[in-house]
Order: sequence, then C-alpha cells, then structure tokens
Amino acid sequence: MKKPKILALFNQKGGVGKTSCALNIAAGLTLLGREVLLVDFDPQAHLTYSLGIAAHDLEKTVYSVLKGETGLAATILEHNGISVLPANLDLSEIESEPAAFPDGEFTLKNKLADVRDKEYIIIDCPPAAGFLTINALACSREIYIPLQMEFLALKGMSRLISRIEQVKERYNSELKISGIIATRFDSRKRLNNAIMEKIGERFGKILFSTVIRENIAVAEAPSFGQTIFEYAPRSHGAEDFSGLCQEIIKRHE
Ligand SMILES: Nc1ncnc2c1ncn2[C@@H]1O[C@H](COP(=O)(O)OP(=O)(O)OP(=O)(O)O)[C@@H](O)[C@H]1O
Ligand SMILES: [Mg+2]
Repeated sequence: MKKPKILALFNQKGGVGKTSCALNIAAGLTLLGREVLLVDFDPQAHLTYSLGIAAHDLEKTVYSVLKGETGLAATILEHNGISVLPANLDLSEIESEPAAFPDGEFTLKNKLADVRDKEYIIIDCPPAAGFLTINALACSREIYIPLQMEFLALKGMSRLISRIEQVKERYNSELKISGIIATRFDSRKRLNNAIMEKIGERFGKILFSTVIRENIAVAEAPSFGQTIFEYAPRSHGAEDFSGLCQEIIKRHE
C-alpha cells in the first residue's frame, strides 16, 4: 500500500467548522470507498465526543500514543468503517511538557509514519497555533482551511497564512494550503456572497466550489454520536459534504 495522504483541518480561529469538516469529510470519503484514519488532535475532544465516544473515560488516546505508552493499532477505535485515534483532555498536557517528547515537533509524524493501510489521514487541529498544531502541520502534506464568510475572515487569513509559512519553513517544506472550505454558508446573507467572491478572487482554485451550507442537522448529529450521513442522509449537510468529498477525490486524481 502507498503512503496515506495526510490532511489537516486548521484555522486558529475557533468555531469555524474544523471538527464538523474533519468528521464529515472522513465519513464522506469512507462512503466513497476510501480507507480513512481520523485523528482527534484537540484536547477539547469534540471529534471523539461527536462519534459518541466517552472521551473522558478513555485510557488509550492519541496522548498515550505520543508518549509511547500505547501502540497506535491498540488505541485506534472503529466507528462504522472509520478508524479514529481519539483524544481527551490529557492531550493538553503536551503544551506544558514539550521536553517530555524527544521527537519534539515531529512526534506525531513519527507515530503515524508506519500507517500504510489508509488512503487518507485527516487531522482535526485545535483552535490554536502552539506545539500541538505544529506537530499536526509538521506531518501533513495538505491543509484545508474551513472559513466562515464573515467580515473578519479575510483579515484573519493573512495572519493564518503567515503562521503556516513559518511552520513550512522550519518543519515541513512539502506543506501546502490546498483547500479553503466555505462553512456555515447562508446565501441569503449578502455579506456571505460578497466575501465568498473576494476569497475566490484572492485564492482562486484552492477555494472549493462546494459550499457547506448552514444546516441544523450538521449541528445536531454530534449529540447523537453520528456523522451527517448517519443522522440525516437527505439533508443539505449530507449533500454538501458528499459534494465536497467528490471534489477532494477529483483533486487527488
Ligand atoms: N454547516 C453547519 N451548519 C450549522 N452548524 C454548524 C455547521 N458547521 C458547524 N456547525 C456548528 O458550529 C459550531 C462550531 O463548529 P465546529 O465545532 O466544527 O468548529 P471548530 O472550528 O472545530 O471549533 P473549535 O475551534 O472550538 O474546535 C458547532 O456547534 C457546530 O455544530
Ligand atoms: Mg474543533
């Protein structure tokens, strides 16, 4: 088997849809026959909880893998064909004890290096740009940025891009921003349309043409421990994530 494509969902701004995208892209790619490993790399563990896993009760998590206390295979959980490397609050420890990780910024990269049975590894980053996020970006080939089409979106982008450039220079020359995903989109809002147009002008093809619309089912599904395809397969959310996944696959062909 080939090396997996490693994608990070990253935006240091909170609440823009990173976790919803990571989860539902993984689910959509799985439905399209791709083998996916989903990595929860946020101590908030929203991704883990969204799959109905009681994160706080877990002893084996991505943190114990990083520490070398548990093996990757023994820590991965399965949810309807998606493999998940779960997290919980333990992961926050890493920011205060980087010295305990001799591989430093390359700790996650080294732990994932032997994965050969997946076509995709999708990493859900925390809304921060610290040691955890650098670990995620150091091992990724591509970054997808979920973005809400709001007033400050463009402003935030310049800061985000310069941060990513720094990581690229120091830790990972292959890293590239290969996708911008418009999330929670409401076409009735004139501002959403106007900013979408601006982002399209500025970033061109990397802006996915599939837009993730504001859809209540996307917000509800996690409380049932389900992906959008399980919870509401006929919803706009399922339609949008399915379209996005087809676009992702096409880009990789
Ligand atoms: N398309 C959508 N329609 C409606 N609600 C959405 C949509 N996408 C995300 N949400 C809701 O918006 C909130 C933030 O989404 P999400 O948790 O995915 O963002 P995040 O960037 O991962 O946040 P954080 O930075 O805290 O990790 C959640 O309550 C989620 O359910
Ligand atoms: Mg999140």
